[in-house]
Formats: sequence, C-alpha cells, structure tokens
Amino acid sequence: MTTWNLEGTKCHLLVCGGSSCKKRRGEDILETIEEEIEKQGAEALIHPTQTRCMGRCGDAPVVIAYPEGVWYGEMSPKLGKTLVRKTLLGEPLEENRMYTYGEEGMKASTERGTKGKRKGKKAAKV
Ligand code: FES
Repeated sequence: MTTWNLEGTKCHLLVCGGSSCKKRRGEDILETIEEEIEKQGAEALIHPTQTRCMGRCGDAPVVIAYPEGVWYGEMSPKLGKTLVRKTLLGEPLEENRMYTYGEEGMKASTERGTKGKRKGKKAAKV
C-alpha cells in the first residue's frame, strides 16, 4: 500500500481491472500505461489506477481519463501508450471514445455508447 502526494497531478487514468477487461488484456494495458508514464518521466503528472468493473464489460477493456471524463472502450496496450503521449501533449485521444462528460452529464461519443441497460429512471435535475 502506498500513499501518494498527488498535488500537481494533471490526469488520472482509471484502468478497469474487472474480469471482462482482464480477459481482454486489461492488465497489459495498465502495465503499458505505467511503463510509458515512467519512460516519459511523467509520474508526477499522470496517475494510473486499476479499478474494479466499471459497468461497460461489453466494451472491455475500458479506460477512463479525468479530469476530461472521457471513457474509452476496446482499448489496447498500443492505444494506452498513445493515450499517455497525447495527454502529455495536451491533445485528446479520439480513437475508441465511448463517452465524454459535459454539462448535460455523460454523452455517448458513438452509437456504441447508447447501447446497454438503462440505469434507473431518468433523474430530475441534479
Ligand atoms: S470488467 Fe471492465 S467494465 Fe466490467
């Protein structure tokens, strides 16, 4: 267990470690992301975290980037490496987006993001 001082961190990458994502190379993606962060000397800027299932198993492996709130599906180690590089350049990764977070909440980036079971009733204003 480690307690990191995360002041100054610019990006938090959440890499799904649930069983569906693990079956589709989720752990390789996390490893590649960690290696690329180290290679780029960006440990203080990008903080990767392995999570449990994030509820989009059909799109495994899933990675989420914050603070942008972009959800990526069907990721690969190569795309994970590209995500780190683009993040450091301040550029978005356009490939494999599922959702983007905005004023109206999560918005599907492609038709794929509109698929799946609806969660509860549509809420009133939050
Ligand atoms: S196991 Fe990754 S989204 Fe479910």
